[in-house]
Amino acid sequence: MIVSIKSILGHRTPIESTVTVQGWLRSRRSSKGGFSFLHIHDGSCFGTVQAIADGELPNYDDIIETSTGCSVTVTGTLVASQGKGQDREIQANEVIIHGLVEDPETYPISKKRHTFEYLRSVAHLRPRTNTFGAISRIRHALSTEVHGYFDRHDFCWVNTPIITASDCEGAGDLFRVSTLDQIHRDNREQFADDFFGDEAFLTVSGQLNLESYACSLGKVYTFGPTFRAENSNTSRHLAEFWMIEPEIAFADLAANADLAESFLREVIQGVLRRCPDDMAFFDERDEGALIQRLTAVADQNFTRMTYTEAVNLLLKSGQDFEFPVSWGADLQSEHERYITEQVIKGPVVVTDYPKEIKAFYMRLNDDEKTVAAMDVLVPGVGEIVGGSQREERLAVLDERMDPRLADELWWYRDLRRYGTVPHAGFGLGLERLLLYITGMDNIRDAIPFPRVPGNANF
Ligand code: 4AD
Ligand code: MG
Repeated sequence: MIVSIKSILGHRTPIESTVTVQGWLRSRRSSKGGFSFLHIHDGSCFGTVQAIADGELPNYDDIIETSTGCSVTVTGTLVASQGKGQDREIQANEVIIHGLVEDPETYPISKKRHTFEYLRSVAHLRPRTNTFGAISRIRHALSTEVHGYFDRHDFCWVNTPIITASDCEGAGDLFRVSTLDQIHRDNREQFADDFFGDEAFLTVSGQLNLESYACSLGKVYTFGPTFRAENSNTSRHLAEFWMIEPEIAFADLAANADLAESFLREVIQGVLRRCPDDMAFFDERDEGALIQRLTAVADQNFTRMTYTEAVNLLLKSGQDFEFPVSWGADLQSEHERYITEQVIKGPVVVTDYPKEIKAFYMRLNDDEKTVAAMDVLVPGVGEIVGGSQREERLAVLDERMDPRLADELWWYRDLRRYGTVPHAGFGLGLERLLLYITGMDNIRDAIPFPRVPGNANF
């Protein structure tokens, strides 16, 4: 019977049963007594299972040619282990070798430690390492938890389009989608002959389309790839990332912040519950502080402060920031990190930003200076969530919108003309949340094949 290593290590396969495992060698060593220890991983869990191949096996000469990375099928009896480091092992009756590693000396993922930077240059092989196995399983568990959370709380998953004509964030960081051979700057007419009959782009956010569904289904979310052509070569930005965006009707900013908090708390708990071994590995890398930090997030209320309070706090901090702090200027990553890491030492929800630095769709507050925006900041990463209450009053929306945009977004305006309702939502970057959960440093290591300026090769 083919069994997963997870089921063996989790004691779900009885001792003395005959088992077959299929996987790759993490390592192999020969022992003096004329046998070989194979350590096999199969992706089902963090650990490896040890198989002992006896010198009597007919293909023993081939077995001792194997090395890290070789693919094998091992059949044998599962026995209680006498050795250290594992409590059960396989006494192999048969070892089928599927693929050897050509020249083990130059195998790019040899047993020794590699830097993450190096591993990015072999992104097709890095899933074979401990770290990338673990982060892949955590990413899967997190994605499943995302859907689980929304399903439990009666949200409907809406698949918003990837190709769109609208720049939701108005930041202009768009990838064009076109079948034209040549594109001339500032000539909108040419797109009449283009595939979609107008300019089209890869989406930067599903929010605008999502609002249309929230204004009928009440509680909705979208979860899919998002694209931004911002040329920022940082450890927090990808050109292609996955965004989770809920949108709720009959809701204000406070309800939106409550949703973000409850969502983060439940999905983090879910990952801790589902991935204990993978999380223990990251915890160890973080000197034992990671799980404690995440458990605290699950237990504590998030601190909330307004942008104005945040600016005052920064001005009084006596810190020497690279970017000056003043009311009206956007918070830079160094400011955000100072607040969440040095002052609060935990997640913070910052609300009510100046209207000039935020998108047109955010609801204008009564002070007419700020909008009902919110960002969630966490230690080690900075911003992980950006959202707002939406402007549901057509007249106010029109004042905040560029008239050209109002023409394009006639359908978005319609939502305010027919049964408008206060509503709110946010976007959460899956990879930024993964950084927070795993304690990894670079967002390029939180997605299987990172898309960043200058790289879309593999
Ligand atoms: O703050 P942002 O730009 O918000 C929006 O797009 C809203 N329309 C979302 C909404 O209200 N439905 O992006 C939301 C989150 C950020 O907080 C960050 O976690 C992530 O998306 N994000 C990125 N992640 C990786 N690489 C990038 N280039 C990112 N840009 C944003
Ligand atoms: Mg943002």
